[in-house]
Amino acid sequence: MNVLVVGTGAREHAICESLKDDVELFSYMSNKNPGIAKIATFKQGNEGEVEKVAKYAEEKNIDIAVIGPEGPLGKGIVDELEKHGVSCVGPNIEAAKIETDKSFMRKLFEDYRIKGSVIYKVFDNYEDIVEFLDDFDRDAVVKPVGLTGGKGVKIVGDHLKDNQEAKTYAKEVMETKMGGFPQVIIEERLIGEEFTVQAFCDGNNLAAMPVAQDHPCAFEGGRGPITGGMGSFSDNNGILPFLTQDDYESSVDIMKDTLTAIKNEASPYKGILYGQFMLCEDGPKLIEYNARFGDPEVMNVLPLMKTKMIDVCEAIVDGNLKKISFEEKASVCKYLVPDGYPETKFANMPIKVDEDKINSLGAKVFYAAVNQKDDGIYTTSSRALGVVGIGNSLPDSEAIAEEACKYVSGNLYHRKDIGTTELIQKRIRHMKEIRD
Ligand code: GLY
Repeated sequence: MNVLVVGTGAREHAICESLKDDVELFSYMSNKNPGIAKIATFKQGNEGEVEKVAKYAEEKNIDIAVIGPEGPLGKGIVDELEKHGVSCVGPNIEAAKIETDKSFMRKLFEDYRIKGSVIYKVFDNYEDIVEFLDDFDRDAVVKPVGLTGGKGVKIVGDHLKDNQEAKTYAKEVMETKMGGFPQVIIEERLIGEEFTVQAFCDGNNLAAMPVAQDHPCAFEGGRGPITGGMGSFSDNNGILPFLTQDDYESSVDIMKDTLTAIKNEASPYKGILYGQFMLCEDGPKLIEYNARFGDPEVMNVLPLMKTKMIDVCEAIVDGNLKKISFEEKASVCKYLVPDGYPETKFANMPIKVDEDKINSLGAKVFYAAVNQKDDGIYTTSSRALGVVGIGNSLPDSEAIAEEACKYVSGNLYHRKDIGTTELIQKRIRHMKEIRD
């Protein structure tokens, strides 16, 4: 079977690794990702130019395309590929609205009375924003309606001083049409611990993967600017140490109800649904959905999958998804990023990665925003590579990941605290305080 993976980062490298032994693998990627280039026939190009991707897929007789990033989904890449006879793991443009149009997502929760919703309102004029925020007795979160690459959301208490500042930012989002919509969403700020549930979906059925927790802040202890994610962990029982089985099942139920609602209101959802939840005093609440795997969270789950990825892809396309099994192992992913990240000043620096040594430790390397050149691997302005330790327990996995980081050199840094017992205990205490 010919399978095309669209996208250039660590997420797509992880998807390619999960497929490489069972298919003829092709890639369409913007940068030359060294990990993907080694295992796939590839073309370099802009993944957002969906007609060009579809033409390449047709030329290569692709049977199934797996879409990595959200950008091309929002541009209708699945609809275009399907016109060219290519089946897809990824939602069409209508179903992808669950990520690309946050007002659509919140309205689904309201109309279908799906649990885990939040107080929110969509605005298209400043007077209404002022009136709403003057009466709002909670801290606000200001969100663009459309895609902003994770950079548009601002939270009172984190990025905004108070609801007064939220008014000014909401006006800017609306007036500059940030994310492509002339509207803005204001929601209540949630207090708790964040976690991620990713699920394969075939339009009707959903198969959930082990839960993971991402660490968006650049520096140890959760300090510094928000990034694309500095690393993540998952535990050997498939849930996290601060979650109960009930919390997990409630989250999966929320996602199942969402799947039904999308089918009724838009189109059957085929692909990966990423639920970002906040575990609050009264249970899980949905922060947002993504229409693709999480990055870094994909690196926690795919290496543990016992069911073959190609079988899962075929089941998604054919609409007969069953339960999927995972190894009962813990995983810790640490991202190595250029010094100065998320600023861009240290791009285009050489790095060295001793993959053999890293693999011999039982760890895995997934290349992200780097470029393979004739004389080696160079950073770009974003995250360089993810190193994943897999072991029987979280301390084992963390130690493996940390040891593996020693075999990557260059002007890079990573968060040493991700997956450590100290940080995990802090999360457990935080949740206990909230629930008590
Ligand atoms: N882990 C955040 C994301 O994938 O968007």
